[in-house]
Amino acid sequence: MKVAVTGGAGFIGGNFVQYMVDKYPDYDIYNLDFLTYAGDLTKHKEIENNKNYHFIKVDIADRESIMSIFKEMQFDYVVHFAAESHVDRSISDPEIFIRTNVLGTQILLDAAKQMDVKKFVHVSTDEVYGELDFDPNTFFTEETPLRPNSPYSASKASSDFLVRAYHETYNLPVNITRCSNNYGPYHFPEKLIPLTISRVLNNEKVPVYGDGKNIRDWLHVYDHCSAIDIVMHEASSGEVYNIGGHNEKTNLEVVQTIIRTLGKSEDLIEFVEDRLGHDKRYAIDPTKLEKLGWKPKYHFDTGIEHTINWYLENKKWWEAIINEEYKKYFDEQYQIN
Ligand code: NAD
Ligand code: DAU
Repeated sequence: MKVAVTGGAGFIGGNFVQYMVDKYPDYDIYNLDFLTYAGDLTKHKEIENNKNYHFIKVDIADRESIMSIFKEMQFDYVVHFAAESHVDRSISDPEIFIRTNVLGTQILLDAAKQMDVKKFVHVSTDEVYGELDFDPNTFFTEETPLRPNSPYSASKASSDFLVRAYHETYNLPVNITRCSNNYGPYHFPEKLIPLTISRVLNNEKVPVYGDGKNIRDWLHVYDHCSAIDIVMHEASSGEVYNIGGHNEKTNLEVVQTIIRTLGKSEDLIEFVEDRLGHDKRYAIDPTKLEKLGWKPKYHFDTGIEHTINWYLENKKWWEAIINEEYKKYFDEQYQIN
């Protein structure tokens, strides 16, 4: 079985590649990644010499290269993670989000259409549904209308519609997954949890947007990987699945938990200007996926402890990312020390 994993040098795609290489030694796993600022291959040191792991550097928005790779490789499955994924970057520079997330997805769909793929799994996000209010009894279901609020979520919603259209029009076998916020090993330190861990460890201020009361529904990345495995192998074509584990936390609670676990002071919290169009709350109803047999292993309390320990033990990985380019981004974004 040949599996193309796009974005396999990033956070979730990288964890998925490692999960698949270990779990399915008989599958050939092809990591297709352009190695943008968010992609790095050092995370794959332990598997890079495995016979069933392969890397191909390619831009998914480069039609000619994608077509020729797909023609040569004849993949059985495509699991599509590659994307511009950071909401803040989409607010300051939306265009690349349209190129990668919309055009890139359409080119991959065209390439998959030329072959007899068993399944094209499109990894999307709960952000396509927009925001919920603070009523704890409301959840996103697969029937919730799409109402994206940021350029990032609008680009992901556009790609979801294209995937649906290729299924309806050309009968391409597809699934769409919409997951809540992930955390865990190899999370790029621009996002809330790894940013907080790395800055608290360096005794640096942590920027919390607005009043810190916005809510996210956190899922450990290993649980996201097992969910995609099930969707890829078990789900009927054309179905959409929400992925989440009922772990809602305010941003302030997340930051306080990390500070407390690391034995530091809450003086490190700096409330900063709110994100433009900041979605209030995300919360997933995962009932449909649970009916396929999926169950998350991590509760947030154990998952965050595991993650903090991982960052303590893997300083070399994230310290290498906090380079001049990263610091320039951070200073432009936050104006705090
Ligand atoms: P990430 O930013 O960590 O990684 C993205 C990867 O895609 C990188 O390796 C990058 O090099 C690659 N990439 C970017 N542009 C490319 C291009 N033009 N061609 C080829 N490769 C390219 O992202 P992530 O957080 O791992 O998210 C992966 C996917 O999961 C995204 O589609 C995202 O929308 C979705 N998602 C993320 C979360 C989350 O909490 N991080 C939650 C739900 C869904
Ligand atoms: O919900 C799924 C989405 O989760 C994915 O589709 C995105 O790819 C992923 O990046 C993530 O988006 P968020 O915008 O929710 O993640 P982020 O880590 O950027 O922010 C989480 C929350 O924390 C959000 O409410 C904004 C806030 N925040 C973020 C940063 C970086 C802060 O308060 N301070 C910060 O410094």
